[in-house]
Order: sequence, then structure tokens, then C-alpha cells
Amino acid sequence: MKHVIDPLDLSVEETEALLDLAGDMAENPAKYASVCAGKRLATLFYEPSTRTRLSFEAAMMNMGGTVIGFSSADNSSAAKGESVADTIRVISCYADICAMRHPKEGAPARAARYSRIPVINAGDGGHQHPTQTLTDLMTIRRRKGGFQGLTIGLCGDLKFGRTVHSLIRSLARYGGVRFVLISPEELRVPEYVIEEELKAKNLPYREVEDLESVIADLDILYMTRVQKERFFNEADYIRLKDSYILTGAKLRKAKPDMAVLHPLPRVNEIALEVDDDPRAAYFEQVQNGVYVRMALMMTLLGVKAC
Ligand code: CP
Repeated sequence: MKHVIDPLDLSVEETEALLDLAGDMAENPAKYASVCAGKRLATLFYEPSTRTRLSFEAAMMNMGGTVIGFSSADNSSAAKGESVADTIRVISCYADICAMRHPKEGAPARAARYSRIPVINAGDGGHQHPTQTLTDLMTIRRRKGGFQGLTIGLCGDLKFGRTVHSLIRSLARYGGVRFVLISPEELRVPEYVIEEELKAKNLPYREVEDLESVIADLDILYMTRVQKERFFNEADYIRLKDSYILTGAKLRKAKPDMAVLHPLPRVNEIALEVDDDPRAAYFEQVQNGVYVRMALMMTLLGVKAC
């Protein structure tokens, strides 16, 4: 039994195989319509979500399976003080696989220690979000054909943005990727990510504060929202929340084939006028999120298409 808590729980080969399978699912959905008949997913969400929870649920239903779960700690027995360890022991009696989101870093890893079913980390605090990374990789691969030689700009809240940490961690394994890290001083990528992923692997990267000065160099621009829920001080959030707003005027300086990604939800970081630009890939990302979660659950459950 395998859990996916960290992007590196999937080797490069396993990641590529999942992306291939997800691509086939996108092209031939009917082939997979009943591969998970008789299987049940539990979505255990202790923190708000629209995309991750509903795409996991849609993914299981697309494969003929069923879904149970809760969408907040308040409507589960966590509100009465039940531990994650006890909850997963219970859920193991009801479901075949589970996706867990939790505000505490490490909670899905703890659940995995006590689980009799595969646990997928659906986002833990400001730490990791491996299935968002699969979504991002599928979108980049479909737009660019691969990762080799790409200059990838990550912009916004790079400190608390778990999708950024997971994407760097996964992409750092591909040779020839360059990173441009665009953030205010206070929201820079954590030092441990810089040390373990970029410096240790000798990957080229730059840290800058100004988006417009680097936008022309980028093949991918990954925008992120400032993570209000992770701030201790509201005044700091208000000061930093609109640090970057991608507008049509700024996009005119970018390459004609640059792709704009965003894990969503968006607050103000991308002006609505950008949505109609062919470089906007963030709603494509949402669709790809269903296919990668289908591919991941099918693989972890060990089921095969006929
Ligand atoms: N991208 C993402 O994790 O979105 P949700 O918070 O809506 O799940």
C-alpha cells in the first residue's frame, strides 16, 4: 500500500506514468467510466476547499466509484476532540482510499501511519500539496511538451504557498529548469526549500521583487494568492495582499507562448481581462486536476482499465 504525502513519494518515472495515464483519461473518458466500480473514496477536509475536494469527488464518480466525507472539522468528530489517528482508523473501515486536507503541517503523514487505506495529502498547512503539483505538471507538459529548458516564474506568496513548495520540489528533479522567484521580501521561498531543492541540486534561480522586469524571460508564470489564513497579523496581510496584479498591459511584455498558471482561488492577482488571453491556462489547470486525481486514485487502488 502506498500513500502520497509529498511530491517525492512519486518517482519521476511514476509521475510521468501518471501524467500519461491522465492524458489518456482526458482523451478516452469512456474507457475509465467503471474502473472504480465498488471502490469508495473518503474526503476528509479539515480546511476549506472548492477545487481539491470536489475534483477528487468528481474523479472518483467519473470512474464509477462512490464518495463519503466531511468538508470541515466542525462537521466531523474533530470538533469533539477526536485525533487524526483515531479518525483514519475509523475511515479505514468505511472507504478504500482517502484524501485529507488539514491546516496542520504533517497531519496527513500522521494519518498515513495509522491507516489501512492509501492516504493522499490534499494540502497540509503551508507545507505540501502534491496533487496540485500533478495538476500543474500536466498543464505545463500539455502547453510546453515537457519541462526541459523552461524558465519558470513563481510569483506572489512563496512563503506560505504550499503549491509553490511542492512544484519546486517536483520540478527540481528535471534537469534544465530555471526558476525566477518573484515575491516581496517577507514572502520569499522558505530557506529550507532553497537549500534542499535549489542549492543542493545546483539549479539556477533568481529571487526578485519586480514582476515586470523579468516577465519577458518567462516560459511559465505561476501566480499565487497571498495566503490570508496563514498570517498572524491582519495589517501585514493588508499591506502585502495586492503586491502583484497581472494585467493585460503587463502581459503585453511577455512571450507570446508564455503560459499563465494559478492554483486558484484567485483574489486580485490576475485581472479579469487576462482570462480571455490564450496564455491564460488556469481554468485548463482545473480540468486537468480531475484527470490527474483519477489517474492517481486508479494507480493507488491498483485497478486497471479493460
Ligand atoms: N488549488 C486548490 O487547492 O484549491 P482549493 O483550495 O479550492 O482546493
